[in-house]
Amino acid sequence: MANATWTRHHVLSLADFTPAEYDIVLQTAASFRQVLSRRTRKVPALQGQLVTNLFFEPSTRTRSSFELAAKRLSADILNFSPGSSSLTKGETILDTAKTYLAMGTNLMVIRHAQAGVPQAIAAEMDRMQSGVGVLNAGDGQHEHPSQALLDLFTLCTLLDHDNPRADLLQGKKIAIVGDILHSRVARSNLWSLTACGAEVHLAAPPTLLPPGFAQGFQPTDQPSRGSIHCHWQLDPALENADFVMTLRLQRERMGQHLLPSLREYHQQFGLTCDRISSCNPNVKVLHPGPVNRGVEISSALMDDPSFSLIADQVTSGVAVRMALLYLMTGGD
Ligand code: NCD
Repeated sequence: MANATWTRHHVLSLADFTPAEYDIVLQTAASFRQVLSRRTRKVPALQGQLVTNLFFEPSTRTRSSFELAAKRLSADILNFSPGSSSLTKGETILDTAKTYLAMGTNLMVIRHAQAGVPQAIAAEMDRMQSGVGVLNAGDGQHEHPSQALLDLFTLCTLLDHDNPRADLLQGKKIAIVGDILHSRVARSNLWSLTACGAEVHLAAPPTLLPPGFAQGFQPTDQPSRGSIHCHWQLDPALENADFVMTLRLQRERMGQHLLPSLREYHQQFGLTCDRISSCNPNVKVLHPGPVNRGVEISSALMDDPSFSLIADQVTSGVAVRMALLYLMTGGD
């Protein structure tokens, strides 16, 4: 497998990922996708290693996907749930992490409602010279690297099934629609898609896409970088788009009411079969889940297999997370 230049012990953000690193993840995930298609869908790569899922915030697919990825690699896996843990007795998050370290954890997968928690735990693990890797599975509205990597894998395998690679997205028009302000998925995708040379079009009402939002994502030090365009209407983002990613309204992260009504929001920014007719005729639609049917996307479009990649994203997630666990634990 191609991991000659993989040097990351932690995966906390995609801000400084290079196209070469994206290629390593894509190629390693493609190898694991093959493993997952065999009758025996398991390899001994992480036998004897302990992966701990520390999810301080609710999750269905990300948590299960990491658990399944660890099991397919023959690792042992511990699942932590805050509601039934010693956090309720006043234990700190760092002490919880150190407890799992003392049990022999090799890699921690961390989700928290507050941005920066995985980074703080990674810093403490480094300070203690523990050798434990930390993978950010979503921190507040900051980043969700494994989701953006599985989105990238889903797009690139569609463009070249046998040889997914970053340069396939060069010049592709990709619309990201919805609650961009509160979305860690959008932020991680902005780093990955622009690093791969895509033309990213963001569309949302101004309350969910404030002026200047995209500025921080546009360092121009890499020649193959794509571009970011912001729209406060849906249609200019959809016109001739190759892919459309829609996002849930993340009301748990909204401090105040930012929209007149869900009905009006759906009328203006909801994806429907009709509205995507101005896209490239081969357009595909993505959504990280969980979906609020009839709000950001119509049920008919979500369930239409000729457009929807939502199930493929979930399937891709296991292979991509296997690749990350494997690479971060120094797989050879
Ligand atoms: C996303 C998340 O948790 O950030 N979902 C996911 O991980 N698949 C998006 C969301 O919550 O809307």
